Amino acid sequence: MTRVITVANQKGGVGKTTTSVNMAAALARQDKKVLVVDLDPQGNASTALGAEHTSGTTSSYEVLIGEAAPVDAMQPNPENGNLFCIPATIDLAGAEIELVSMVRREYRLHDALREGFLAEHGFDYVFIDCPPSLGLLTINAMTAVDEVLIPIQCEYYALEGVGQLLGNIGMIRQHLNHNLHISAVLLTMYDARTRLASEVAGEVRGQFGEVVMKNVIPRSVKVSEAPGYGQTVIDYDPASRGAMAYFDAARELDGRGDYQPHASTGPIGVSPEVAAQLDGAYGEPGTGADATEGEE
Ligand SMILES: Nc1ncnc2c1ncn2[C@@H]1O[C@H](COP(=O)(O)OP(=O)(O)O)[C@@H](O)[C@H]1O
Ligand SMILES: [Mg+2]
Repeated sequence: MTRVITVANQKGGVGKTTTSVNMAAALARQDKKVLVVDLDPQGNASTALGAEHTSGTTSSYEVLIGEAAPVDAMQPNPENGNLFCIPATIDLAGAEIELVSMVRREYRLHDALREGFLAEHGFDYVFIDCPPSLGLLTINAMTAVDEVLIPIQCEYYALEGVGQLLGNIGMIRQHLNHNLHISAVLLTMYDARTRLASEVAGEVRGQFGEVVMKNVIPRSVKVSEAPGYGQTVIDYDPASRGAMAYFDAARELDGRGDYQPHASTGPIGVSPEVAAQLDGAYGEPGTGADATEGEE
């Protein structure tokens, strides 16, 4: 089974792209077959993965408007044979508008990936890197997956806009994709020397509970330098703190699997253990409530 994960947060500069490409590269180094779909017209993920993405290159734009199949847009990563990228070009900037009048406009990416492509290629992971908005591109990313990973930058106003993102995920869950849920929150650009970072981390853990990953990504110059060389930090400097942190986070994401939501957590995922505790606390019709009474 392929885990397909959308990396979203409508704030820019929080580490969506950095997380998409480095989680992908780390998992590829751990012998997983991984695809990154770049859905941001800026094409930063494509740059970091060394994918050609000048205007006119067959890209996620052609896939969305139905002019190309995903397999024709997919490029192998120069550094790692397990890693692939469907790049984004500036042509994608027009897609938000062009999509409006298309049939199944919210499901274009879903249809392209799910009508044979994913089944044929045997990916272990697909990461979809979103633009910093909640428009049709992001909606297409949200209907194509079950899992959402939200990177949160450990800075002032970290949770600003997250309420709106949760509301949107809830709405998409209700109307367009019942399986959509937050399966991971990753704290990024964590500066252990500051009180602010630990305060933000505490606040985020308070709001999202254990869906927040135990590993955090430190602020590290190597991480920000790597894209300048058309590389992920995993390839640019695998021994650096930033690369190690992404290796650990990737192992955690892989090891713990998908966190499923619970009736009492809205779209926010919890581990099976926590879901069982919640069932105890809230009482599941027919089983939980009786079982709890019996135990006491
Ligand atoms: N852990 C980190 N340490 C240092 N710089 C980082 C780190 N993560 C991201 N950055 C830098 O912060 C900027 C924004 O990150 P990016 O992943 O592009 O965010 P987004 O995709 O959410 O807009 C980029 O210049 C990136 O290189
Ligand atoms: Mg980005």
